Amino acid sequence: MNTILITGCSSGFGLATAGYFLDRDWTVIATMRAPREDVLPGSDKLRILPLDVTDADSIARVVDAAGPINVLVNNAGVGMFNALEGVSMDMVREVFETNTLGTIAMTKAVLPQFRQRRSGTVINVTSSVTQQPLHLLSVYTGSKAAVNAFTESLALELEPFGVRARLVIPGRAPATSFGDNARARTGMNIPQAYGALAAQVFAGWQQSPEDVTHPMDVAEAVWRAATDPSCPMRLPAGADAVAAAKAA
Ligand SMILES: NC(=O)c1ccc[n+]([C@@H]2O[C@H](COP(=O)([O-])OP(=O)(O)OC[C@H]3O[C@@H](n4cnc5c(N)ncnc54)[C@H](OP(=O)(O)O)[C@@H]3O)[C@@H](O)[C@H]2O)c1
Repeated sequence: MNTILITGCSSGFGLATAGYFLDRDWTVIATMRAPREDVLPGSDKLRILPLDVTDADSIARVVDAAGPINVLVNNAGVGMFNALEGVSMDMVREVFETNTLGTIAMTKAVLPQFRQRRSGTVINVTSSVTQQPLHLLSVYTGSKAAVNAFTESLALELEPFGVRARLVIPGRAPATSFGDNARARTGMNIPQAYGALAAQVFAGWQQSPEDVTHPMDVAEAVWRAATDPSCPMRLPAGADAVAAAKAA
C-alpha cells in the first residue's frame, strides 16, 4: 500500500498531484490550511487533514494523524513579486517561513519513520526561477534556491538509509492561483523607481503564453520522482522549465 502526503492541496499543483495519485490507486493524504472536502473526488483512499507548514504544533499533529507514509511532497508555497526595496522584512520572513523553513520542518518531522523503515522519498517543489533568474523575484527565488541546496545536501546524508530526496522544478504556471494569492497577500506596492521595470516584466509575460507549465506537468513529475528510483535529482516540470534547465 503506497501512501503519499502532500502539502498545499487546496489548489494548483498540490490539488492536481493529489488527484493524479488517487487516480493511480495510491492512498493520498491531502493537507490544507483550511480543509475542504469538495475540491477532490470522494474516495476511501483520500484523507484530508489540516496543516499549516509554519506552525510546529500543526506539523506534529498531521504527522501523528497520518501514520506511516511512503512519500512526502513539500508543495505548499507563497509567492512575492516586488523589488526588494518594496517589501518589509516581515514579508520576507513570511516567504522564507513557508517556502524554506516549512519545507525543512516537514521533512525533519517525517525522517525518523523513513530512516527506521529504510525507505521513503521526500519531494520538494521549487521553481525554475532558481535556474533562470527573473526580475523582481529576489526574495522568492532565494527562498526556493535554499530548498534546492538543502535537498541536494540532504539526499547525500539519507542515501545510506535507503531514503531518497528529489526536486521537482516547475516553470511559470499562470493557470494556478499562485500569482493572485501573492498579490492578495502582499499587495502590489512596487516602488515608483521600479515601475517601468515591472511594466516591462508584465508585458513580457503577455507575449510568451505558449511556453508555460501546467498543473498536470507537475503531477507527472512528482509521480516520476516518487516511483522511478533512477529519476534525476532535479526534475524540471513544464515546457518552460525544461528549456530553462537546458539553458542553465
Ligand atoms: N504557479 C507558478 O507559477 C509556480 C511556478 C514555480 C513553482 N511554483 C511553486 O509551486 C507550489 C504550488 O504553487 P501553485 O502554483 O499550485 O500555487 P497555489 O495555487 O497558490 O497553491 C499554493 C498552495 O500552498 C498552500 N499554502 C500557502 N501557505 C501555506 C502554509 N503556511 N501552510 C500550508 N499550506 C500553505 C496554499 O494554501 P491556502 O489555500 O491555504 O493558501 C495552496 O494550497 C509553490 O511552492 C510554488 O512556489 C509555482
